[in-house]
Amino acid sequence: MILVTGGAGYIGSHICVQLLQAGHEVLVLDNFSNSKPEALRRVECIAGKKIHLLEGDIRDSTILDRALSHPVRAVIHLAGLKAVGESVNKPVDYYSVNVTGTLNLIQAMQRHQVYQLVFSSSATVYGTPETVPIKEDTPLHPESPYGRSKWMAEQILHDLSLSVANWKIVVLRYFNPVGAHPSGLIGEDPSGVPNNLMPYISQVASGKRPLLQIYGNDYPTPDGTGIRDYIHVEDLAAGHLAALTALKHSNELLTINLGTGHGHSVMEVLNAYESACGSKLSYQISARRPGDVAFYWADPSQATKILGWTARKDLQSMCNDSWRWQKLNPNGFC
Ligand code: NAD
Ligand code: WQD
Repeated sequence: MILVTGGAGYIGSHICVQLLQAGHEVLVLDNFSNSKPEALRRVECIAGKKIHLLEGDIRDSTILDRALSHPVRAVIHLAGLKAVGESVNKPVDYYSVNVTGTLNLIQAMQRHQVYQLVFSSSATVYGTPETVPIKEDTPLHPESPYGRSKWMAEQILHDLSLSVANWKIVVLRYFNPVGAHPSGLIGEDPSGVPNNLMPYISQVASGKRPLLQIYGNDYPTPDGTGIRDYIHVEDLAAGHLAALTALKHSNELLTINLGTGHGHSVMEVLNAYESACGSKLSYQISARRPGDVAFYWADPSQATKILGWTARKDLQSMCNDSWRWQKLNPNGFC
């Protein structure tokens, strides 16, 4: 059985589908602070299999003990808070969930002698990189409480792996996850105004928002708009299954980028989304967003070498799947 913390969320739900389809028993622990139980019902519907569910907070040791009293072989730890801007206003919440929550989980795993862990980290730990593509040994300069909380959790896991030989840990640094399951049944369901580009464009396409603000067209990029390494959430999910296999054979903590190795500008994403939804979308150029980096993309060669994993889906399929999800579920999971 695999314990998936935060399994009802955007990325977790896609991982759960693939785990079930690969024949794993799945136990989800989620407090539904940023997700809905309906997401898990749909996961079961796609996979045709049942999920075991515990509703609770990763900072609650009692609920972790209850989760780990199941025959859990490994944990995929996704539960966390993830909005850069919000983290500036609520740093304590971010350190509490992302750092204390992770520590609490590790302690519970030790009590139950479960030593295999896949951890969700983020390319945000690199901050503004000096060179691209970004390799895993690029110096880390997280620039927000969110980024620092992920960096701290990584440090804890690193020290842990050095202290006790039996821990097997893979830290995955995601680039920009987008897209949705091709069935249109699960996808990203942001609460309030979306912070990120693809969910915002989706809501412009569905008529929920009048236009996209493009944050700056004077960056040193071919069309002047910011460039990111967008990765289809299905590819990202597949990376976790590959990590679960790899950690069985590894004796050291592995830190691995999950990205495509290619960057796309805001304009390119908008154009691909227009092709997906079949209409022109309104936009306005506005000032740069404070803290934004001009461009970055991953060097994903370690993922290929160590995990045997490569991202397969292109920008158009990310936009097509995102639009299908948005069109079929204009109000998300409701
Ligand atoms: P999400 O908010 O959709 O999913 C996180 C899940 O964790 C939600 O279901 C939420 O209810 C749950 N959760 C939050 N706090 C909890 C707590 N204290 N106890 C139990 N459950 C809790 O986010 P996501 O996009 O699926 O991200 C999953 C992980 O990946 C996060 O750790 C995030 O930092 C990381 N990540 C996300 C992105 C991205 O752009 N989406 C990029 C890099 C890294
Ligand atoms: C992408 C591009 C914007 C919105 C964030 C987090 C990062 C990680 C992934 C969790 C940029 C531009 C955006 C809009 C725009 N999450 N943009 N108009 O900032 O690369 O990364 O999500 O770990 O930590 O920081 O992603 O989707 O917000 O922005 O022009 O309304 O789109 O300026 O160039 P970002 P994003």
